[in-house]
Amino acid sequence: MKTVASITELRALIREFKRAHKTIAFVPTMGNLHSGHMRLVKTAREKADIVVSSIFVNPTQFGENEDLDAYPRTLEEDKKKLIAEGCDLLFTPNSKEMYPSPDLVRVITNHISTLHCGASRPIHFNGVTTVVAKFFNLVQPDYAVFGLKDFQQFTIIKMMVEELMMPIEMVGVDTGRADDGLAHSSRNNYLTADEREVAPTLYQVLQDTRKAILTGELDWSTLIKQAKVRLSAAGMTPDYFSICRQHDLEPANTDDPDLVILAAAYLGKARLIDNIHFSQN
Ligand code: PAJ
Repeated sequence: MKTVASITELRALIREFKRAHKTIAFVPTMGNLHSGHMRLVKTAREKADIVVSSIFVNPTQFGENEDLDAYPRTLEEDKKKLIAEGCDLLFTPNSKEMYPSPDLVRVITNHISTLHCGASRPIHFNGVTTVVAKFFNLVQPDYAVFGLKDFQQFTIIKMMVEELMMPIEMVGVDTGRADDGLAHSSRNNYLTADEREVAPTLYQVLQDTRKAILTGELDWSTLIKQAKVRLSAAGMTPDYFSICRQHDLEPANTDDPDLVILAAAYLGKARLIDNIHFSQN
């Protein structure tokens, strides 16, 4: 695996791949790679001739009081994992490389970036779409591989690709979980041993809510209230728990066919997010 930090070197290699008519699958990350990320690299490996990944802790998607400085940085271990999974090229730019001055342009998606995670993290998704658009311009991938764990992120980036007419196929990969159901996340590192014990409650509550919907429960506002009570009883502070339409993440009606339940909750220093998507009928 080749690792490059400069845009000039990256562009030169991408030009070579394109000249040789190789297809490219791209997996952007912020590093501290775990088996959830590895699922994406595996999928990318199956999709294209060349797998490109990036590790960049993107400052513009962190709010002022968020964990930009504390975010775990583990480059050497990450590289070993990427090599083992067959990644061909890793891009590790610094902030100056990705945000040269002047830094006046942002890619903004309206409304949807203010919902759910966007309600408590107002600048987050605009930072994500901005950096991902830059990466897409640099890497020029045929496929871009993202995790469905961050369902709202996936949906927003898919909208950006469609509306800005980027010639890229978006590939979503199901969430990798520990045996007890907790979704793998770099932020699970912030949990104490006791918190780690109760953290799987989030996924259990999501599963139970799905079950209730599929067995015909129509009083969804009560389901949402009960879910939040259970999360609070487990020691979490629920941020949101929403039953949504899959395509635009607006609140769902009971007869909408394709649903996603999105949830976020604070547990100690960590903010856990998870979701479950399914169809009725
Ligand atoms: P990061 O949190 O490092 O996640 C990188 C990719 O891994 C995302 O597509 C995310 O959805 C996926 N991922 C994380 N945990 C996963 C799990 N348990 N199972 C499956 N996929 C998982 O998301 C970001 O970085 C950034 O916002 C980024 C897109 C790189 C832009 O800065």
